[in-house]
Amino acid sequence: MPYQFVREDYERRMAWYTRARFGMFIHWGLYAVPARGEWVRSEERIPNEAYDPYMQEFNPEGCDMREWMSMAKAAGMRYVVLTAKHHDGFCLFDSACTDFKSTNTPSGRDFVREYVEAAREFGLKVGLYFSLIDWRHPDFPHYGDAHHPMRDNPACGNEGRDFGRYLDYLHNQVRELCTNYGRLDILWFDFSYDNLRGEAWRGAELVDMVRSLQPDVIIDNRLEVSGEGFGSLAECAPSPCHGDFVSPEQIIPPSGLRDAEGRPLIWESNFTMNNHWGYCAADHFFKPASMLVRKLVECVSKGGNMLLNVGPDARGRFPEESRRILSEIGRWMDRNGESVYGCGPSGLEKPDYGRITRRGDTLYFHILDNTVGAVPLTGLHHEDVLSIRRLADGSEVSVNRDWVYNNYPDVVFADLGPDPVLPDPVDTVLEVRVKPGAVPEWT
Ligand code: GLC
Repeated sequence: MPYQFVREDYERRMAWYTRARFGMFIHWGLYAVPARGEWVRSEERIPNEAYDPYMQEFNPEGCDMREWMSMAKAAGMRYVVLTAKHHDGFCLFDSACTDFKSTNTPSGRDFVREYVEAAREFGLKVGLYFSLIDWRHPDFPHYGDAHHPMRDNPACGNEGRDFGRYLDYLHNQVRELCTNYGRLDILWFDFSYDNLRGEAWRGAELVDMVRSLQPDVIIDNRLEVSGEGFGSLAECAPSPCHGDFVSPEQIIPPSGLRDAEGRPLIWESNFTMNNHWGYCAADHFFKPASMLVRKLVECVSKGGNMLLNVGPDARGRFPEESRRILSEIGRWMDRNGESVYGCGPSGLEKPDYGRITRRGDTLYFHILDNTVGAVPLTGLHHEDVLSIRRLADGSEVSVNRDWVYNNYPDVVFADLGPDPVLPDPVDTVLEVRVKPGAVPEWT
């Protein structure tokens, strides 16, 4: 029975994902050896004969998927998305469709199998990224393509290339992933461009197959678009290969996202810790952990998820900077994760000192810059408030009614005490419980 969009089924399927809010992206493969990012073949026009030999040295003995998953878990991440195959066509799984795979390297390992087993062991939802593009496959367009490494080389013309045969290869590999690795929670296709989108990938047939094998899987929107564009669900005209969420990349939508009829859209901002998805040895421009915590809170306050990337090196190890950042994020999440998980926009105006997230009748005021004096919980009335606590330690926070606030009798001022330095310089969170229904929910 061809796939049809049914909103109730969709909302049921998406429930865990919007509660999870925070995931880890992992870009890893043969490109970790040249260590100049996952687009190195395209950017440097590297031909197969110069790239294939990396296979013979790919033996990442430092790769311990249980360690990777324990770091994701400790950072407070609830799901992971690993590149099963990126644009270079190298498979981290034992595909019967190709020899260009990790099981044919000196490691002999099926890293996708190790990953899915470790992720489940740590209670993480399992996502796989799969590239629609495959620069290694002879039937994928070469000369004149927008991105192919041989796009400028007339000797790599497209005579004899059979795109239908390429699509059979693509579909067969997706079938392998949906059949041989147990339950998948997310399939993250990447990406559509020019005329290669939707039915050019035989998208309806692909999604039918995927949903018949993995009925509850969540699929991103890049069978139709890329990080640019929203997709048919946003247009309120869901195609059979519509994405379940919008995937803005290296950006947080300034005001969140809504569909053409004004309904909130489900979206996930994905970004890198430095400036590369795949390992880049020279790129030390890592975002501070404090910034990434604040970006996660920003995503949630605008109704979205955050997928934060790690690019392991050719030895199979997370970069030192990434390990440190994950650990620092984890420390904050350990004490404040309640203000992220299952939360979303508050329906109140953003305060100038921070942000607000919300779950039901509990609001979380995220104080990023301290105020002079007590903190105005703008949008609340005294009679609405049941309690105010510092989330990190549960300590009671009183309302300050000193004379200096007498000009603003309707504003609730939370008293953080005499110290002008915030208890948590990254983000001090106040948990504010209000009377049921007192504060209109965001819609
Ligand atoms: C961009 C990059 C691609 C990466 C993706 C993640 O499309 O080109 O390499 O996998 O972002 O969103």
